Amino acid sequence: MTRRAVAIGVGHYLPDRIVPNAEFEKTLDTTDEWITSRSGIERRHFAAPGQTTSDLAARAAMAALKMAGLTGNDVDAIILATSTADLTFPSAATMVQHAIANTKGYAFDIQAVCAGFTFALSNANALIVSGQANRVMVIGAETFSRILDWTDRGTCVLFGDGAGAVLLEAQDGNGTTDDRGILSTDLNSDGAYRDLLYVDGGISKQTTGVLRMEGQEVFRHAVEKLAETAHTALDKVGLTADDVDWVVPHQANIRIIKSTARKLGVGMDRVIVTVQDHGNTSAASIPLAISVGVQNGQIKKGDLLVTEAIGGGLAWGAVVIRW
Ligand code: UT7
Repeated sequence: MTRRAVAIGVGHYLPDRIVPNAEFEKTLDTTDEWITSRSGIERRHFAAPGQTTSDLAARAAMAALKMAGLTGNDVDAIILATSTADLTFPSAATMVQHAIANTKGYAFDIQAVCAGFTFALSNANALIVSGQANRVMVIGAETFSRILDWTDRGTCVLFGDGAGAVLLEAQDGNGTTDDRGILSTDLNSDGAYRDLLYVDGGISKQTTGVLRMEGQEVFRHAVEKLAETAHTALDKVGLTADDVDWVVPHQANIRIIKSTARKLGVGMDRVIVTVQDHGNTSAASIPLAISVGVQNGQIKKGDLLVTEAIGGGLAWGAVVIRW
């Protein structure tokens, strides 16, 4: 028997305020047409003043618990992928722990920027497979609206706020790729590219800072690395892109999503796309897309999913999971 980390619940939360592209036309030299055609983004959600990343994360976690028919104390560990934690410390995950009334487990944040959810899933899988946890709440949540330069039209129109959560549970499988659960993971980073996408402030600089990005360069790396990491993750368990029911990509740019699908040889009818409604929500984008895909009836129990993401670091990765 093989211990597997199987998804038993999923949920998401988006703040109420929806900002269409046209809003940016009032303050920036930009157009709805440019944003839509270059990125695929039509609108995004922004958190209300005072609404924090852990507020969004807790709501997504509650939704995942509800789907699983469980309560906070049924969870052994909470891993929150975020680059926009409420405070310098403690972790936003501990705030979620308190909000969902978990008094028995342990909670911590993971920071791998837009690739954060793939890193969090991989770490949650390791905790479950090694027997250190039976149920892990894996969350991606961000309030990127707090770290945008509203005068930089090349970045501020691209990002949004939101949260998604997947609840994993240890279950016995037979050790084949027919098992439900996480089947393989592939994680990478290369700090040589740290200047392509970063925030120009931080704790030890004593400022919050704002996001800076060499968009074209990040685009080039994304197109090169995303299909590669998805192929590697599939390869590790002897699967190919033909076996995949759904690609669930990081939602940064529809042109990157289409190009990666093309490289994988997967038609767009097998790709979950939410970028038009959410914008780039960094670590939240994959669990948001999974949750929307499940809610829409696209992703069904037993489907083979491959998720892939890249972001600041650069850090990138992929996870193969049978839903
Ligand atoms: O989630 C982390 C990973 N991040 C990503 O994957 C993002 C990767 N990069 C991208 O998605 C794209 O590079 C962008 C959407 C950021 C930009 O698209 P692009 O096709 O690479 O445009 P560009 O940066 O080459 O800019 C083309 C032109 C420039 O004007 P000139 O120099 O040709 O006159 C920009 O100044 O578009 C201009 N531009 C804009 N024009 C209107 C840049 N931003 C805007 C804007 N509105 N908002």
